[in-house]
Amino acid sequence: MQTIMEHIQPKRVLLTGCSSGFGLLTAIHAAQAGYEVIATLRNPAKKTALNEALRQAGATARVEILDVTDPVSIQEVLDRIGPVDVLVNNAGILVMGSFLDVTDAEAQRVWQTNYFGPVALARAVAPGMIQRRRGLIINVASLAGLVGHPFNAAYAASKHALIGFSRSIRMELRPFGVRVVSVEPGYHKTEIIRANATLSEHFYDRQSPFFEWNRGFLRLMMDRVIPKAAGPEAVAQQIVRIIGMERPRPHYVLGRDARWACRLQRLGLGAWLEKEVYSRLRRAVRQENRRESEKKARRRQTNTGSPPAHPEPPAPRTEGQALGK
Ligand SMILES: NC(=O)c1ccc[n+]([C@@H]2O[C@H](COP(=O)([O-])OP(=O)(O)OC[C@H]3O[C@@H](n4cnc5c(N)ncnc54)[C@H](OP(=O)(O)O)[C@@H]3O)[C@@H](O)[C@H]2O)c1
Repeated sequence: MQTIMEHIQPKRVLLTGCSSGFGLLTAIHAAQAGYEVIATLRNPAKKTALNEALRQAGATARVEILDVTDPVSIQEVLDRIGPVDVLVNNAGILVMGSFLDVTDAEAQRVWQTNYFGPVALARAVAPGMIQRRRGLIINVASLAGLVGHPFNAAYAASKHALIGFSRSIRMELRPFGVRVVSVEPGYHKTEIIRANATLSEHFYDRQSPFFEWNRGFLRLMMDRVIPKAAGPEAVAQQIVRIIGMERPRPHYVLGRDARWACRLQRLGLGAWLEKEVYSRLRRAVRQENRRESEKKARRRQTNTGSPPAHPEPPAPRTEGQALGK
């Protein structure tokens, strides 16, 4: 039973990772929709930019500093803001590179942020929700939590775990009127695939059996995947719609690429999808190798002073630039 006050007061929505991407847009749309939004971010240096983005959008939200990997910071924010009706576990990171090249420390950082962080937040807000017999936890997982993602294994594994966690606690929290939703977007143009995309420290290790494959993967991302990725608006709007739902579905696959991949899986074509990804990767590796040898040949010609056989192509992008740095 809800009290009259609970009907009158707007839902208090706590979001993590609001400095950019889905988090920033969801905070804006949720505030515009009339929710009491607590938009959190880990880096105090980005607070002014977030406040400015909210102001420009005409949205009012309380901004707090919260690092999902730091239990003290989680508790301090919860002590300051009081009961939470809706938690959106949005913060996430990735570290690209083959599983052999990603270090334990890098993989652990991914898991701390993408899995243990959301678990800690859910554990922190759930007792209050259970007591009030209502609440909603939205975990932003990924298509990579439903299918494999080569050269992003730690990320994919952490998102698989987050989906498994969501599915499990959904049943535990059901008797208490607390709902749990998992959101699974495909590729979208946010900072996670641009400025925030991190390459493992051994990504360019020539001794690695994956040296060429890491490079080919990056080429595929930069030439084919990132340019085709959708904008983040629709995901943010969908999350706000879910916040307003009486009975949300257990999970939402968002984006054309994600829906397509899931449809293939349902049709029993998961193996075909893996083969397709593999052949695209192989093509990208070959292209990247060709590009490298052409680059070397041009350098040799420049050093020997002989004129280049072909006109100079546009300057190659550095990885940092290509990822938006
Ligand atoms: N974009 C996609 O293609 C895609 C697809 C599927 C799922 N997702 C998921 O969507 C969620 C949001 O990512 P996004 O795409 O919007 O990328 P984004 O623009 O990079 O946003 C990620 C946010 O997480 C924050 N963050 C990272 N580590 C944190 C920590 N320890 N504590 C608190 N905040 C932290 C980042 O803060 P800083 O600015 O301080 O780094 C940033 O605000 C992530 O969980 C991601 O895995 C994204």
